[in-house]
Amino acid sequence: MVKGGVKTPPAKWLRFRLMRHKNLSSIRRKLLRWYDQNRRDLPWRRTGDPYAIWIAETMLQQTQVATVVPYYERFLDTFPTVDALARAPLKKVLALWSGLGYYRRARNLKLAARILVRRYAGHLPANYDDLLALPGVGDYTAGALMSIAFQKPYPAIDGNARRVLGRLFNLTGEKKLRSAAADLVSRSRPGHFNQGLMELGATICTPKNPRCPKCPLRRDCAAQNGDGRMATTAKKYTGVKAVTWPLAVVRRRGKILLRRRAADGILAGLWELPGGEIRGHKSARACLKRHLRELDGTLKSDLHIGEFRHSITNRRVRSPLYLFDVRIDTELSRPGPNWRWISPSSLDGYPVSSMTRKALRILATYEKSFL
Ligand code: ADE
Repeated sequence: MVKGGVKTPPAKWLRFRLMRHKNLSSIRRKLLRWYDQNRRDLPWRRTGDPYAIWIAETMLQQTQVATVVPYYERFLDTFPTVDALARAPLKKVLALWSGLGYYRRARNLKLAARILVRRYAGHLPANYDDLLALPGVGDYTAGALMSIAFQKPYPAIDGNARRVLGRLFNLTGEKKLRSAAADLVSRSRPGHFNQGLMELGATICTPKNPRCPKCPLRRDCAAQNGDGRMATTAKKYTGVKAVTWPLAVVRRRGKILLRRRAADGILAGLWELPGGEIRGHKSARACLKRHLRELDGTLKSDLHIGEFRHSITNRRVRSPLYLFDVRIDTELSRPGPNWRWISPSSLDGYPVSSMTRKALRILATYEKSFL
């Protein structure tokens, strides 16, 4: 068993291990051959730099490959080394992360980069437990780094790999899955093997309507051979809440009003248009009035200019968007220290929430309709 990775399983699981033993090397070979022929050409697969792989694997948690690619490229262009990331202002890191969501990942990268400079001369340690001790690095990232960046036979089980293994061996429990993944991982090409499992899950062994006839492991698969369920092994439903979150564009002389969110809680520290979840039975306008109470008496109109939908963490958000013009005779003052009047062209320097970016695209379309 891999040291520091997965604990040795109890005796009752050995049956599983011995039963499958003969098949394991054949499964490995088939998966690696399939991966060699079918892998997508992704930017983090063209590098052996542990730092770049760490950034990619962190971005890929909770985010689709297609979304990650441009963010990954911009991030590495701007911060090409651990040192560069450690020295960068957090604001700049968050601005580059803006739109990827789950901003704690970016904060942890920055914290970890400083630790890496201090403790490891700016390198990532090739040791599972040392990696696990870094902020933001859990079992998955440590396993991905050990296998992909350092070619050590550790498992790396993301949602896709979990589904593939669950179906292949008809397993659901996390411990059994980890044990199977640790047994199965290729000793000679662990990084390619782990990415092969993820790739298979992303492109063939999909949650709904898997393309089984195209699967290189169809003859080994418990779900295909009728001795297993089509286990989806999806995580437990955590309860997604539908909310209405109106936003206000407060406009004066070409500038708009943004405010910074508190340093903790969701979307911590990001800049956004004022607004928030409606609580109780309030209307969208009443809700915005409360968020804009410091501007009471200075606002002229409140025009509904559009609406969009968005998902964050465990909320499904509907956002109606209202445009407020400030009366020309009033002072251009800020309602508080965390508020700022910003011209939309200088927004790039600010870490802005995705919802606000979406809202500003609606505003741009609305304004264009008058040209
Ligand atoms: N998801 C997580 N890690 C990945 C990788 N290395 N390639 C593609 N998708 C992934």
